[in-house]
Amino acid sequence: MDVVPAAIDDALRRTIANGGRVCVLTGAGMSAESGLPTFRGTHDSLWSRFDPMRLATAEAWREDPALVWGWYRWRMRLVRDAQPNAGHRALAALAQRVPLSLVTQNVDDLHERAGSIVDAHVHGSLFALRCFACGRAHDGPLDDYVDGVQRIEPMRCAACGDRIRPGVVWFGEALPEAAWASAVSAAGRCALMLVVGTSGLVYPAAGLPALARRHGATVVEINPEPTALSAEADHVWRTTAAQALPLLVR
Ligand code: OAD
Repeated sequence: MDVVPAAIDDALRRTIANGGRVCVLTGAGMSAESGLPTFRGTHDSLWSRFDPMRLATAEAWREDPALVWGWYRWRMRLVRDAQPNAGHRALAALAQRVPLSLVTQNVDDLHERAGSIVDAHVHGSLFALRCFACGRAHDGPLDDYVDGVQRIEPMRCAACGDRIRPGVVWFGEALPEAAWASAVSAAGRCALMLVVGTSGLVYPAAGLPALARRHGATVVEINPEPTALSAEADHVWRTTAAQALPLLVR
C-alpha cells in the first residue's frame, strides 16, 4: 500500500495545523528493516532463539557474566554493522516540521545515527556501559570482539574492579528514572502518538499509548501485525516502519 490511510493523514495534518505535539513510541520492529532481530514473533527473533532468563537478568549476570557479556557483545556488533532505515530517517525529517518527542524501547543507536534526538531510551542503551557494582560509567574502548555468540569475560571497572555491564534494562530492573519521566511527560502532552514496531507486551512502556489517549491524543499504530495495543489505537496501519513513515512525512 503506497498511500497514507486518509484518517491517519488527517490526524497528522490536524496536529500540525493546531500546533500540537507528536510523540513517537518505537520498538524493535522499527529496526527490523535495518536487519536487527526483533524479540518476538519470528523464528529468528531473539527470545525464540535465546532464553531471556539466562541472558537478560541481574541473576543471570551474577551466575555467568561471560555468557551474558558475550551475548551483548554480539548484539553490539549487529548494531554497529546495521544502518538506519528509511523509517528512522523519516522520523528525523518529521521532527524538523512538527514538535516531536521520540521515546524508544530500543537499545540500539539507529535513531541517533539517522539524525534524531531521542528524548527517552526507556530500556537503556547497549553502549552506555557502566559498572555492575558501583554504577560508574565506562567510556573506554570496547574489548576485542570475536565473531558470533560466545563467552567473553567482561572488562573491569577502573574505579572498583567489578565487571562492566551493558547499559540496558534487564528483566526485574527499574527503568532509568529520567528517561521514564520524559516518556510519561511526552505521552501526556502529545496530540498524536505514533506507536511503531512494538508488540506492546512489556510494561510500563506498553502503558504509554493508553496514557496518551487518556490525555486526549489520537493514537496510531504502525505495525504489519496485530498487537496487544491494536484495540486501543484509534487507527491502525498494517505496514512496516520503513514503508509507512517516509509516506507519512512526504
Ligand atoms: P517485540 O519483538 O516484542 O515486537 C516487535 C514488533 O515489531 C512486533 O509487533 C512485530 O509485528 C513488529 N514488526 C516487525 N517488523 C516490523 C517492521 N518492519 N515495521 C514495523 N513493525 C514491525 O519488540 P518490542 O515491542 O520492542 O525489553 O519489545 C519490548 C521489549 O521486550 C524490548 O524493549 C525488550 C524486550 O524484552 C528489554 O530489553 C527490557
